[in-house]
Amino acid sequence: MNSQALAYTPEVERETAAIRERLSIVVDEKKWRIAAPYVAEINRLKREKNAIILAHNYQPSDIYFGVADVTGDSLKLAQEAAKTTADVIVQAGVYFMAETAKVLNPHKTVLIPDMHAGCSLADSITAADIALLRQKYPGVPVVSYVNTSAEVKAASDVCVTSGNAIKIVKAMNVPKLIFLPDEYLAKYVASQCPETEIIAWKGHCEVHELFTPEYIREIRAEHPGVVVLAHPECAPDVLAESDFVGSTAQMQDYVTDKHPPRVVLITECSMSDNVYAENPDLEFIKPCQLCPHMQLMTLPKILHSLQTMTHEVKIEKAIQEKALLSIQKMLDLSK
Ligand code: 13P
Ligand code: SF4
Repeated sequence: MNSQALAYTPEVERETAAIRERLSIVVDEKKWRIAAPYVAEINRLKREKNAIILAHNYQPSDIYFGVADVTGDSLKLAQEAAKTTADVIVQAGVYFMAETAKVLNPHKTVLIPDMHAGCSLADSITAADIALLRQKYPGVPVVSYVNTSAEVKAASDVCVTSGNAIKIVKAMNVPKLIFLPDEYLAKYVASQCPETEIIAWKGHCEVHELFTPEYIREIRAEHPGVVVLAHPECAPDVLAESDFVGSTAQMQDYVTDKHPPRVVLITECSMSDNVYAENPDLEFIKPCQLCPHMQLMTLPKILHSLQTMTHEVKIEKAIQEKALLSIQKMLDLSK
């Protein structure tokens, strides 16, 4: 990778002034002078290559505000990937998200700036595990969280995200289903869909499983009146201590709509910066749990990715076609 730092010139300053304004509350001047030349160059290259950058809500603010064309939760990123007319899609997020974009756009170039951006949930299950589950529970449909590999999606009946899981399980209207790989999300969905028996897998998110009910009680004691929003990948006893449960986008919408004066987002903590930058009048208590995979994305790596067109996501045609059916079913059911 080109290790030579780019210069913060008056031209860069001028070109990036509007972006600087939006994130000034979360990125200090010293950091911005390093980031801005990358922001300017990445945005120039995107135009040259007809590329777009999809950035998940957990991305660092310089990426989220500086170079992303679409920001959102896994559902929105998938919906936008399905609609884009760009030739090149760069995923600022983790590998399963880039794979989802590729499944939806088999003829486009999909790039992930760091191939090691994995996910503990995606790593917790394989297509062979699903084959065994189908043997054990014949005829029971398999619902997979999007935090899975393309092979697992291909072996499933439908995908869900944290933003639409309840809606899709209700729409399926079946007495029993297998929900994988996130045990806690499965339990949360089961609590909201009592008419369906849910068989769960034992996968966990390595970030959300770190939160405890004691931690939330401490936050409440130290910050009276705080509103606690939690991601459904947290354990049931953590969700029981929270005021609202939702996907990253649903938490963001809650803050924007209800404007709680003091709030804590029980999720990956980069998101707090991004939501705070857009709601600077609110007090954010910041739980510092970072996803090591999400944090592998950096501006220099995104620039390198666009310059060299690496690392390209490839999926075998038979897998892509089957995974597309599960993702498309999700997109249709979540309309
Ligand atoms: P969302 O779909 O809620 O953004 O979640 C994705 C994720 O990886 C959460 O850890
Ligand atoms: Fe996976 Fe958890 Fe990281 Fe989300 S936060 S990408 S679920 S490891």
